[in-house]
Amino acid sequence: MSGSTITPWVVGNWKMNPMQADASALLQNFKQLLNNQNIVEENCHIGIAPVAIALTAVRDSLKQANRTILTVAQDVSRVAGTGAYTGEISAELLKDNAIDFVLVGHSERREIFDEQPQILNEKVKNALNAGLTVIYCVGESLEQREAGQAEQVVLQQICDIAAVVNAEQWKNIVVAYEPIWAIGTGKTASPEDAQAMHAKIRQGLSQITAEGQNMAILYGGSVKPENAVELAACPDINGALVGGASLNAESFYKIAQAFANTK
Ligand code: PGA
Repeated sequence: MSGSTITPWVVGNWKMNPMQADASALLQNFKQLLNNQNIVEENCHIGIAPVAIALTAVRDSLKQANRTILTVAQDVSRVAGTGAYTGEISAELLKDNAIDFVLVGHSERREIFDEQPQILNEKVKNALNAGLTVIYCVGESLEQREAGQAEQVVLQQICDIAAVVNAEQWKNIVVAYEPIWAIGTGKTASPEDAQAMHAKIRQGLSQITAEGQNMAILYGGSVKPENAVELAACPDINGALVGGASLNAESFYKIAQAFANTK
């Protein structure tokens, strides 16, 4: 038992993976594992974030599961509505396609695609205004951690979005803490370090919004079945954003089970 009353979330971030045939096998296997032994919705929200081109197919496939599994977009346009914006997918278009969740601020978007706070704010604002729930990612680099700046960097990333989130909208935000040095590297923050940062994030959120105590704060960065139980036991770790391990049905299922078992 983690002692938290917050329902955990386990979200698979498929990133730029996999090919269609592998994606459909992965979904079939995952649904079968749930059929064999269900994880009830009350104990864990489960979501999958596929590539944009697969969003509606994944959404339809997940409808056949024996419980709700959320389809999550990996990105959303900084431009709202519809119009002449080649290549973009707006929050309204996601919503119109029954995609109700989106990741914003993932470190790969911040670093590789140079998404600065101003762009992220536009994305957060558009998503919330269109009625989406945002999984907002934060996290420090190794250099920032080694320079003792981890907390400051992460809290600043939280503060950045405060300008565009109104009082009502905080309950439509889930935070994901993902130390950059732990993503895809096999290195995980120790449960103690992760819990310490999550507690700081909760403290920071609570200064901004009355929702702070109820908001789910997920951990991400090399989460796997082997470390999920320990992470799930931490009181302020309310789920996981899972990259690599979400591409294996059994690993992803076991991670969801670890978090559900805290309930
Ligand atoms: P990882 O990725 O689990 O492969 O480290 C996590 C993420 O980037 O969301």
